[in-house]
Amino acid sequence: QEDVFKKLVAHCKEYGFVFPSSEIYDGLGAVYDYGQNGVELKNNIKKYWWDSMVLLHENVVGIDAAIFMHPTTWKASGHVDAFNDPLIDNKDSKKRYRADVLIEDLLAKYDDKIEKEVEKAAKRFGESFDAALYRQTNPRVQEHQAKRDEIHARFVKALNDSDLAELKQIIVDYEVVCPISGTKNWTDVRQFNLMFSTEMGSTADGAMKIYLRPETAQGIFVNYLNVQKTGRMKIPFGIAQIGKAFRNEIVARQFIFRMREFEQMEMQFFVRPGTEMEWFKQWKETRLKWHKALGLGDHKYRFHDHDKLAHYANAATDIEFEMPFGFKEVEGIHSRTDFDLSSHEKYSGKSIKYFDPELNESYTPYVIETSIGVDRTFLSIMAASYTEEQLENGESRVVLKLPAVLAPIKLAVMPLVKKDGLPEKAREIMNSLKFDFKCQYDEKDSIGKRYRRQDAIGTPFCVTVDHDSLTDNTVTIRYRDTMQQERVPVEKLHEIIAQKVSM
Ligand code: GAP
Repeated sequence: QEDVFKKLVAHCKEYGFVFPSSEIYDGLGAVYDYGQNGVELKNNIKKYWWDSMVLLHENVVGIDAAIFMHPTTWKASGHVDAFNDPLIDNKDSKKRYRADVLIEDLLAKYDDKIEKEVEKAAKRFGESFDAALYRQTNPRVQEHQAKRDEIHARFVKALNDSDLAELKQIIVDYEVVCPISGTKNWTDVRQFNLMFSTEMGSTADGAMKIYLRPETAQGIFVNYLNVQKTGRMKIPFGIAQIGKAFRNEIVARQFIFRMREFEQMEMQFFVRPGTEMEWFKQWKETRLKWHKALGLGDHKYRFHDHDKLAHYANAATDIEFEMPFGFKEVEGIHSRTDFDLSSHEKYSGKSIKYFDPELNESYTPYVIETSIGVDRTFLSIMAASYTEEQLENGESRVVLKLPAVLAPIKLAVMPLVKKDGLPEKAREIMNSLKFDFKCQYDEKDSIGKRYRRQDAIGTPFCVTVDHDSLTDNTVTIRYRDTMQQERVPVEKLHEIIAQKVSM
């Protein structure tokens, strides 16, 4: 699996999807640039999300708020005081870790031990094997499970109490070693704020310390009343936004999974207090359906309800996706109560209440939030689509089986040879389609090589123009996943492609 992941990262670079940022200067930690194909895929993901939110829901509208916000925003939102990671250093390697990540890795080790025991027994006992019964009764499994439960209970309590000494004690008690030095020589755990700050204005004017937003959500909260009033929105309604967010992540690993500059697609849904759990449930289902509609495989998704709730939430769940390095969060769905709006009301001194004409009363709405990372969605789609195939003729091919609706290039148009009027015919076909679909013209190298290049970037259709095309106005269309070829009239192309690539 690790191997597949490395290949995927290399593929992303080789085919113009993702480059390390400022690579000529050896890159910048956990910052990445999207290349010519990456940007198309990313834009398609954003459009797919935006359309599903804003076009398909009459009561959801969009905004685009600034990245810079008044600094009090982050005081009110709780980020200045509570948006911290607990850090610990190994004194020998001088490496810094997130204490919670070290403990999560420890828990994962116990899960692995249990899984291995169960797998071994399954092999031994064959078909009659009942894994659930084995988990409940086998003493070794029971022992691992008890240890795991004990660590987990202490961990959740320490997180909820923000008990840094206890986090360290867990690391000491269970003899967690530094992956680099192999020693258990740890410092105390301390809190580290994840927001990037900078200064606005010159010092002579009295410069103001401001932050790069760590989530897009606050731009929605501070605009809630503007949108509600000017759009004459009635509760329940939602505001959607796509934009950059910044976090000074300590454990920056796994490629674009955890970045310091990334993009979020967030929607805050404002509801009557007391109805939030219903809406929470409904948005959980709606969002899972959206993911599954991509067709990457239903079994690759699961919910993970939170043990520890963020400072603003009264219920929270993640939609996790099976990445090459395990099930990981792609989207969070949070019931944020009236925490944000009430807090902005308090700090700004302005009333942000909603007058509900049906109830004939004013209240501060409750909020259900759906928050998905563009980059993590990108990674999940790439990971699920990357396929190495052994062909019948002994050759192999790498093909990105991207959902056609998201593919960077929808069709490649190729003259069989670079003469006899075939390039002109190919251009003519491309010109008739390029306003509706992103097309690529390719006349270089053998047709086989050209097909492979398109496979590698996930182009669902290749259209080849040959000498017959000049007389009978038909072309060969080749399908990426099956590699099957079909002779079709040029006038049918639009319909065939549109069928597959529209939402
Ligand atoms: N407004 C709520 C919020 O920001 P979050 O769970 O911290 O919640 C939401 O983030 C989503 O943003 C995550 O599910 C993930 O997809 C994405 N995300 C968060 N931090 C990220 C990072 N460092 N790199 C890439 N994506 C990230």
